[in-house]
Amino acid sequence: MSDCTYTRVTFFSGENLPLEMHKARMVQRVHLIPAKERLGVLTRTGNNTFLLPNRDVFLDMLTDSGVNAMSEAQYAAMLMADDSYAGSETFYRLEKTIQEFFGVEYFLPAHQGRACENIIASTYVSPETPTVITNYHFTTTKAHVLLRGGRVLEAISDAGLKTVSDLPFKGDYDLAKFDALVNEAGGPSKIAFARIEAGTNLIGGQPVSLANMREVSAYCRKNGIRLIYDASLLADNLFFIKTREKECLNRPLGDLVKEIASLMDIIYFSGRKLGCARGGGICTPKRDEYLRLRDLVPLYEGFLTYGGMSVREMEAMAVGIRETLDIHNISQTPLFVEALGQELTAKDVPVVTPFGGLGCHVDASRFIPQVPQDQYPAAALASAIYLVSGVRGMERGTLSESRNPDGSEHLSNMELVRLAVPKRVFSHSQLKYAADRIGWLYRHRDLVGGLVFEDEPKTLRFFLGRLKPVGDWQERLVAKFLEEMPSGL
Ligand code: F0G
Repeated sequence: MSDCTYTRVTFFSGENLPLEMHKARMVQRVHLIPAKERLGVLTRTGNNTFLLPNRDVFLDMLTDSGVNAMSEAQYAAMLMADDSYAGSETFYRLEKTIQEFFGVEYFLPAHQGRACENIIASTYVSPETPTVITNYHFTTTKAHVLLRGGRVLEAISDAGLKTVSDLPFKGDYDLAKFDALVNEAGGPSKIAFARIEAGTNLIGGQPVSLANMREVSAYCRKNGIRLIYDASLLADNLFFIKTREKECLNRPLGDLVKEIASLMDIIYFSGRKLGCARGGGICTPKRDEYLRLRDLVPLYEGFLTYGGMSVREMEAMAVGIRETLDIHNISQTPLFVEALGQELTAKDVPVVTPFGGLGCHVDASRFIPQVPQDQYPAAALASAIYLVSGVRGMERGTLSESRNPDGSEHLSNMELVRLAVPKRVFSHSQLKYAADRIGWLYRHRDLVGGLVFEDEPKTLRFFLGRLKPVGDWQERLVAKFLEEMPSGL
């Protein structure tokens, strides 16, 4: 079944519904508190959805990171873990899985994706090689490069930055732009590395085509530029390659992964996403790169046979990575994102298209054009969504950027609220509820205003920053909600 060409099960009736290819045998109670209480909670937590306690959240759509539902095989594997500081059998099982999955020899464990980024940036970013070129940056990746005095340039095409599109691979590099950026940086010798991010997160979980990866790799090989692949969102990207790239439809998923890996010098990933577990890792076919990166693992992460992970996490990750080769596993997030996207579109809510992986991305710039970018429209919309639904999304816009060195705002290319769809967690009716409440909010969008900082951390400010509304728009929004939904739910 796993490598069949049927990438989704369709309904004879013609209805376009995502079908769960699993059943729930353990569940967690969730709580829906009324709108008035939600206003109190939001005020206490500085209008930052990262700071909301889960007990006050109905649907936690902040992220898929570490919160995808694990399979019974993953839980079973956790009971068989071999606990040891050095030489654990669990580590060797994970190493073998990585070697077979990517077809590369060397593997280094790390406690999560950003730990890999720390090791990679520390190793390669220097005053002689300050520049990193990527299709699009990710928050933690960029922060690690900046911390080492480097800079991040983006080679994504202008079309990739359009929120409304029918381009199937908006994460692709623009090769001409890439070449121009290499020259602007002073030539290949100044480049620490080029990076391709699978399922490009900050532009709406948009995939990169295999054809484009081949071209970028050929350019890098010709010019002696190290190419690094962030495979954190590989599962979604793999589904889109298989379903949107004609030549890939009949190719086994395992072959596609190995071909992608063969185009790269180094691969790293967040095991909180890839493999639906926790942890992370770096792998490479190249012994010299392995040796350069290796020394930092015992320093920052732990001994080479655990790298900051518990053995249970490593067992779950190994099984989860093997399960990435099941099309009916990796289809689940994209199909449920599509279903949510269609529900929202039917209510005229502006969302990023084509629907990507990871989550459905609401376009705050079009939802609330009255809120200027320096009042963080995506964060304001995320707070408004929580007020009217109890759904926790994540700001992915100007608030997630760092200020320019002169203190001015670095305005983001996109102002998005991400409604993450962790794998196998939410039912279709829960997603319909989220769309229903966001549809209501869209009808009352003129009530939504902006936010300003009360407390702004210097690094990765979106995690811990506290904000307050400009004026009393949140009170007025809740009053309107209660007028139309007197139960407050
Ligand atoms: N790379 C990408 C593309 C990511 O999406 C993430 C994390 C990381 C690296 C860092 O990995 O969290 O294990 O340290 N993304 C999470 C998210 C946080 O919510 O999208 P990590």
